[in-house]
Amino acid sequence: MCGIIGCAAEGGEVASLLHRGLKRLEYRGYDSAGMATISEARIYVKKDSGKIDEIHQRLNFDNMPGSIGIAHTRWATHGAPTQVNAHPQLDCEDKIAIVHNGIIENFLELKEELIERKHVFRSRTDTEVIAHQIEENLRSGKDFLQAFFSAVKRLKGSYALAIISSHEPGKIFFARNESPLVIGLGDGVNFVASDVAAFIERTRRVIFLDNGDAGYITPREIRIYKLESGIEVKKRIIELEWTIEMAEKSGYPHFTLKEINEQPYTLREALRAQEKYLDLLAEFLDRARNVFLVAAGTSHNACVAGSYMFSKVAMLNATPVIASEFIENYGKSIGIDTVILAVSQSGETADVLAAVDHARMRAATVLGITNVVGSTLTRVSRAYVLQNSGPEIGVAATKTFTAQLTVLAQLALTLARKRGKLAQYEIDEFREELERLPELMKRAIEISHDPIKSLAKKLADAKSIFFLGRGASYATAREARLKVMELSYIPCIAYPAGESKHGPISVIEEGYPVFFIAPNDSTRKNVIGNMMEMKARGAEIYCVGTEGDQELRGISDWWLGLPSIHEALSPIIYIVPFQFLAYYLAIERGHDPDKPRNLAKSVTVQ
Ligand code: F6R
Repeated sequence: MCGIIGCAAEGGEVASLLHRGLKRLEYRGYDSAGMATISEARIYVKKDSGKIDEIHQRLNFDNMPGSIGIAHTRWATHGAPTQVNAHPQLDCEDKIAIVHNGIIENFLELKEELIERKHVFRSRTDTEVIAHQIEENLRSGKDFLQAFFSAVKRLKGSYALAIISSHEPGKIFFARNESPLVIGLGDGVNFVASDVAAFIERTRRVIFLDNGDAGYITPREIRIYKLESGIEVKKRIIELEWTIEMAEKSGYPHFTLKEINEQPYTLREALRAQEKYLDLLAEFLDRARNVFLVAAGTSHNACVAGSYMFSKVAMLNATPVIASEFIENYGKSIGIDTVILAVSQSGETADVLAAVDHARMRAATVLGITNVVGSTLTRVSRAYVLQNSGPEIGVAATKTFTAQLTVLAQLALTLARKRGKLAQYEIDEFREELERLPELMKRAIEISHDPIKSLAKKLADAKSIFFLGRGASYATAREARLKVMELSYIPCIAYPAGESKHGPISVIEEGYPVFFIAPNDSTRKNVIGNMMEMKARGAEIYCVGTEGDQELRGISDWWLGLPSIHEALSPIIYIVPFQFLAYYLAIERGHDPDKPRNLAKSVTVQ
């Protein structure tokens, strides 16, 4: 999730406007940044790795010439965070500069074609192909707008683009597909940016662009077309009443709520995990004698769900282990035929890195799933896959949990294919389910939000809450407990539902809130038995099940029905109500959900 901004201004103040906009977008990514402007039909570029302030101190963004420019703050997905991979990216002749947020899935194919046509690539980014493709189209005699449109039509994946060119020095070209892009309309100054925060100091008049929109801006003109048909469209101008602080959170009161709501988007990006790396990981996992999934906190809960996925879909045993327990429990038994799949959003968690170091010392193979390119985990892993979630500002992991699960699910599918463990129709069904995830996530958010917000008022004074589930839903129960506990500070319990009668049930008394996660899967029948046990002891039963399940609805005191989904994938969708519950309980109890007490985003001590 990078941040882009383009600004076309009368009167040459563009550099400082871009610089200030970039600072407001920094929360979208901060491993490198850059800016390009045009003056007298020549493109000027400054870019480097590091934080915006550091780069500005070294290079001074504010003295860049011209009244048209683009800028970018990066969260690397293709290519390490280096100077050459920072945006803007350019064509061979430095006449086209481009900034991009998103992932171009078919960039390797396009790059090969362009290399054959003698284009020289400088970076390892997916973005650079776009500049060269436009250049190629110009060589065949197209005008710039046509060359730009034809190039964009060839792209598969997500993109928000802003482009300047010395061929058309008065314009900023833009296009959008699945990555956010918004136009800001000022007086003698127009903007195009990833979000409103980038320009809200100058204007609150905006046009939100839709997928398939493309066009250009000048200081006084805005032209929007439908990319497919080339037909020009007129869009509604909206006058926002947001404060600067609200704009940074896209209008939400907290980052945590914003991040929960952006999961349809982050799941789509997670589904773009690169196939060649999934294949590589699957190759190592398939050959291993022992597989351990090693992680901490929420990432560990993702591993608990991951082990169900590997077992159900690929028939591979993978043991989820809490990182800080790994060396004590398994340290002596691992060797050259062991594979450790370390899952860490930050890639910097000390407990995970200690386990990984130990495993490497004993010649085991280390693989990684992480959100941060260039993190320690990416450097110590034989191979890794990125989850593409962009920065998560809320301390509690929400969107990064569901993205980790989505990567694990793709890995399970790749493994299943490699191991020949599923019939073709089962592979197709699972793949289709994966592709439905963003849509299912959107529905889960819509269905859950209002009922959970009211429920949080009722449960705000609860002394303790119980979460139960079986199979994959045990992982959901664990993550529900962690989320609710860390944001609301209410002590919570999570157990496999079948284990609850072996002790924990003794805590139940009249009115004790017990949540069951009970999707319509192979565990449902047994879960009903566990619900009856709890009910008989006076528990108040709150059930999150599958839409239309009248039987469970009848047994429960409170009920929420979510869409039906493949059982190995259910934690991705069924965690949503609990993310909202954690958030609204924190609000009801007067806590800051973005910064729970005693916690840090990345725990770098053992
Ligand atoms: C909980 C949370 C933590 C992290 C844990 C591991 O909401 O955020 O439990 O999941 O500290 O962090 P990473 O994934 O960065 O290794």
